Amino acid sequence: MKTPMKTTLSILALAISATTAVNATTLTRDNGAPVGDNQNAYTAGPHGGVLLQDVHLIQKLQRFARERIPERVVHARGTGVHGEFVATRDISDLTKAAVFKKDMKTPVFVRFSTVIHSKGSPETLRDPRGFATKFYTSEGNWDLVGNNLPVFFIRDAIKFPDMVHSLKPSPVSNQQDPNRFFDFFSHVPESTHMLTWVYSDYGTPANLRQMDGWGVHSYKMVDAEGDVTYVKFHWKSRQGIKNLSAKDAAEIQARDFSHATRDMYAAVASGDYPKWDLYIKTLKPSQLADFDYNPLDATKMWLGIKETMVGTMTLNRMPDNFFQETEQAAFSPANIIPGIEPSEDRLLQGRVFSYADTQLYRLGANHQQLPVNRARVAVNNWNQDGAGNHGHQKSEVNYQPSRIDARREDGRGRYSEKAVTGHTQQKAIEKKQPFVQAGVLYRSFGKKERANLIRNLAGDLGKVRDSKTMHIMLSYFYQADADFGKRLTKAVKGNLKQVKNLVK
Ligand code: HEM
Repeated sequence: MKTPMKTTLSILALAISATTAVNATTLTRDNGAPVGDNQNAYTAGPHGGVLLQDVHLIQKLQRFARERIPERVVHARGTGVHGEFVATRDISDLTKAAVFKKDMKTPVFVRFSTVIHSKGSPETLRDPRGFATKFYTSEGNWDLVGNNLPVFFIRDAIKFPDMVHSLKPSPVSNQQDPNRFFDFFSHVPESTHMLTWVYSDYGTPANLRQMDGWGVHSYKMVDAEGDVTYVKFHWKSRQGIKNLSAKDAAEIQARDFSHATRDMYAAVASGDYPKWDLYIKTLKPSQLADFDYNPLDATKMWLGIKETMVGTMTLNRMPDNFFQETEQAAFSPANIIPGIEPSEDRLLQGRVFSYADTQLYRLGANHQQLPVNRARVAVNNWNQDGAGNHGHQKSEVNYQPSRIDARREDGRGRYSEKAVTGHTQQKAIEKKQPFVQAGVLYRSFGKKERANLIRNLAGDLGKVRDSKTMHIMLSYFYQADADFGKRLTKAVKGNLKQVKNLVK
């Protein structure tokens, strides 16, 4: 008797689904039930008030009121693109990372961004551009969170919140103010190199395709024997590099404040997929002492070290949904894989903490479960619960070690070893060399690039009311290159004698 009864029930269920089931075109509430009327609220007759019982209306308003999440505290304005990275060279002598096995193909998601202004700000503004890449590797996600410029303003994470506060709009007037950020930078001579980059036309790239990407920091590659090599990463655009003059940028901004996003969507839609080749520079630990600067200082490039190409990235698919993918993407220098580790760079060490921390606040405890952030391999640990958890843990064991449900460590994931000696301390690095590479950069520019740099920089420095701040800044550029300093001093009507007196 049991079987016929079951059959009758399933026939009944089928009949229900054929006649009444909600299907893909049915408008529903969040509980999946159909919406009866999406045009008229439920009222007490033609002249009465709206009924609290209109659960659809209430839910619609509640969800609307909760659409915004905190924007990123920096890099709020961005554009994401999916693609693929193909490793082209055997570098197993440097790293055991599977992503770098020759011919290995790895899906990626890249988010390009501006840094300082808010989510709706123009993409023409002078700023570094973020260039963050998430590699969904066969050993977990690796994020290379870089910029379009090769160095950074500061070398110690302890200065980052102050620097960003000075660059963000004023807490009083809500306007960015060169008086504030040059006040800060006049105390930070190591910013001279990055400021020279940012105030050149590299600070206003023409679009996102025609710019390079840089890892900026030195990282460590670790091979199967545990041997460490220091490495810097550089994405070289196959589209070449194109920057805007301040005049071009102003003209574009007058008619389009999303020109870079628009350009990327158009290129990918037309099948003109942008590509970047990934290059590395390497140093053995014993070579770190060979320079008159500290190679782990993020304000320095490794000039004169040869680059080797290790792979190519192609971006070929725009996200289906901006919020779900681009906005909820969470990149972090803490997302590392066996064979790639942070170096002792003091700026990077702070970042290794900061990103996951802000994302726990911005997106919640389970943000790594979101499709755009989820590793493509099984995530196997006993971190549990928390808001928005939609995992599927069935085991009674939620601890390790266990004989009942064993999850084993894998030696490949052990961190590399390093001998350390000395005292705990709070001291600036030795071999600071704040100006030399800014001078090298200035002299590498042609006539027009130098003229644009001076004009761009004078435009902001000339607004600084405090003469001491202005002259300290001028003395930094003068120490980078005397011609640079003299031309800038003339452009802002400064006093060259005062500038020279400030040279230590
Ligand atoms: C100690 C120094 C730094 C700190 C504390 C810091 C902190 C942050 C924070 C909190 C975010 C927002 C992350 C989010 O909400 O998802 C962010 C975004 C970002 N940062 Fe940094 N940052 C630092 C330096 C740098 C440097 C040196 C670079 C480039 C090499 C960089 C590149 C980026 C990029 C590209 C993003 C945007 C990632 C995305 O597209 O979602 N940052 N940073």
